Amino acid sequence: MSYNIAIDGPAGAGKSTIARRAAEKLHFIYVDTGAMYRAIALFFLKKGISFQDTETMAAECRNAEVSITYQDGEQIVLLNGENVNSLIRTEEVSSMSSKASAVLEVRAHLLDLQRSLAAGENVIMDGRDIGTCVLPKADVKIFLTASTQVRARRRYEELRAKGSEESLECVERKIIERDEADRNRAISPLREAEDAVHVDTSDMTVEEAVDRVLEICQEKMV
Ligand code: DC
Repeated sequence: MSYNIAIDGPAGAGKSTIARRAAEKLHFIYVDTGAMYRAIALFFLKKGISFQDTETMAAECRNAEVSITYQDGEQIVLLNGENVNSLIRTEEVSSMSSKASAVLEVRAHLLDLQRSLAAGENVIMDGRDIGTCVLPKADVKIFLTASTQVRARRRYEELRAKGSEESLECVERKIIERDEADRNRAISPLREAEDAVHVDTSDMTVEEAVDRVLEICQEKMV
């Protein structure tokens, strides 16, 4: 018997940090599906495909072989065999991944990989459509969110720590744009599953949010 835990929510809600820590505590595998979309986005950027050219994205995505491996518990994303973890966290990749993730062929290309990772394993998988589309029968579904201001501030501090000089206003604007694109796309939009537990982390520390997620998992996984 294996357990699948789905965590969805908008950009900057703290999903990856919280899901990773919860997975460590539960000794589950953590699967970050956003990183897979980011790897495909990097592939498109390297090919010089424009942000609007969804037709070429649909045709080219089959040439982007994305796979996942783990090193010391850390998820490594391989793009055509190359470890791209250090290349997929830029703002350019963020914007391209939001565009690429609206393309049906791109989503279909990643769906099998995501489902096969969850089959027969205890996983915490995070993304936008895990509870609604990828793992609709997940044992636990959590929708993790926070106010736009809090999410923008967190992302801004993360970027500053990496040396970025982008203003808070600019980071907030990009978060709002990405939220809108993720929520309003035709295929698998960001949406709270009816049976998801809603967790607003605006006033929570990371530890408090991890504890809340673990508490929900304990209640549901009986
Ligand atoms: O979680 P993230 O910021 O790394 O995700 C990058 C982009 O990928 C985001 O704009 C939405 C998209 N995405 C998606 O459409 N479905 C998922 N399951 C995960 C991410």
